[in-house]
Amino acid sequence: MKKAVVLFFLLVVTSIELLQVHGEPQVPCYFIFGDSLADDGNNNLLPTLAKANYEPYGVDFPEGPTGRFCNGRTIVDILAEMMGFDDYIPPFATANGTEILKGVNYASGGAGILNETGQTSGARICMDEQLNNHQVTVSSIVSMLGSSQSATEYLNKCFYSVGMGDNDYINNYFQPDYYPSSLLYTPEQFAKVLIEQFSQQIETLYNYGARKIVLFGVGMLGCTPNAISVYGTNGSTCVEFMNYESSFFNVELKSLVDDLNTEMPDATFIYVDAVKLAEDVIAAAFNVTTVGCCEVEELTGLCIPNQTPCQNRSEYAFWDSFHPSEAANLISAIGAYSVIFPSEFYTRDKSLVAEL
Ligand SMILES: *[C@@H]1O[C@H](CO)[C@@H](O)[C@H](O)[C@H]1NC(C)=O
Ligand SMILES: *[C@@H]1O[C@H](CO)[C@@H](O)[C@H](O)[C@H]1NC(C)=O
Ligand SMILES: *[C@@H]1O[C@H](CO)[C@@H](O)[C@H](O)[C@H]1NC(C)=O
Ligand SMILES: *[C@@H]1O[C@H](CO)[C@@H](O)[C@H](O)[C@H]1NC(C)=O
Ligand SMILES: *[C@@H]1O[C@H](CO)[C@@H](O)[C@H](O)[C@H]1NC(C)=O
Repeated sequence: MKKAVVLFFLLVVTSIELLQVHGEPQVPCYFIFGDSLADDGNNNLLPTLAKANYEPYGVDFPEGPTGRFCNGRTIVDILAEMMGFDDYIPPFATANGTEILKGVNYASGGAGILNETGQTSGARICMDEQLNNHQVTVSSIVSMLGSSQSATEYLNKCFYSVGMGDNDYINNYFQPDYYPSSLLYTPEQFAKVLIEQFSQQIETLYNYGARKIVLFGVGMLGCTPNAISVYGTNGSTCVEFMNYESSFFNVELKSLVDDLNTEMPDATFIYVDAVKLAEDVIAAAFNVTTVGCCEVEELTGLCIPNQTPCQNRSEYAFWDSFHPSEAANLISAIGAYSVIFPSEFYTRDKSLVAEL
């Protein structure tokens, strides 16, 4: 069974080029909210330690280092490709002119649902600020299309993804020396605090015209090389308390998604289980899972500038101490895509097998 799953992913992963649709993308526009897992350059000019616009980041990316926290493409890059976009979605920091009609990426390394999350690493664009930036985009689209009614009709057709919460744990709740949250709240209470604010943020996004919204849960935060090196695993594969304490967020998020679908029947909200995506990565049995491919700075867990990374990136689940390799991202993106567009995935999977 496990072998079959691995083989399936290897087939799909090596054939990802074949998956690209020709012609029109499935949706006209894609707006991205998130953290370093999705950032494609928004932190480049910010005063922060959470930056990735230097070598060896981007070693496998056509344009080299761009600010992506990866050797190659992020999950949202791959999702954009699978949806049929010709280009990656541009970062808000540099997006200009009519290219914003295809969508904008607002994601920022270190950012979270809570404003204070990630403040120890420096500046970052928290979810509230990402929404303010989206308002700027919406206003520009209103000017471009000539009326707020045509802008709304356009924005209704776009696809939106939000991947938030990881930093509210990694760079907040799990850092008791710097943030009081774990002294103030039990894990169950903290998840409720996060979801309460998150639900308002998602409602704001809805009010800006979003009607197709994908919400990613938090991943297996106890399985990063950083977590393992800081805490050890005590005989387990991962740092169990981290996975356990952050799991309440996903429980709450899933029920929020159910509520949103009931309360806003003209919109579709889709929950993507990031733990399931991580399980798919684990099932792919990467040779190396407990350290990243590049040599990292102890303080940040990010790659040391200009060091030569490992030779074969596809043998590593992680690129640095926090961020998955492109090879792992491919597996996660395929898993996410199959949840978001199940019927297309099925059709393409069959045509893919036919092409092979
Ligand atoms: C728009 O952005 C691109 C890429 O960042 C840049 O090359 C171009 O000069 C910009 N155009 C304007 C009108 O600012
Ligand atoms: C977070 O910051 C934004 C913008 O700076 C502000 O509008 C919002 O009220 C803040 N939220 C909290 C909970 O402090
Ligand atoms: C390690 O695991 C054992 C058995 O589950 C437990 O009793 C012990 O407290 C754990 N030690 C640490 C340091 O977590
Ligand atoms: C990595 O795993 C693959 C597949 O199991 C194996 O063929 C390869 O030799 C391994 N590479 C290393 C360096 O161990
Ligand atoms: C890199 O690793 C992958 C997975 O183990 C393997 O299939 C591939 O042949 C390796 N490539 C090189 C150049 O060693």
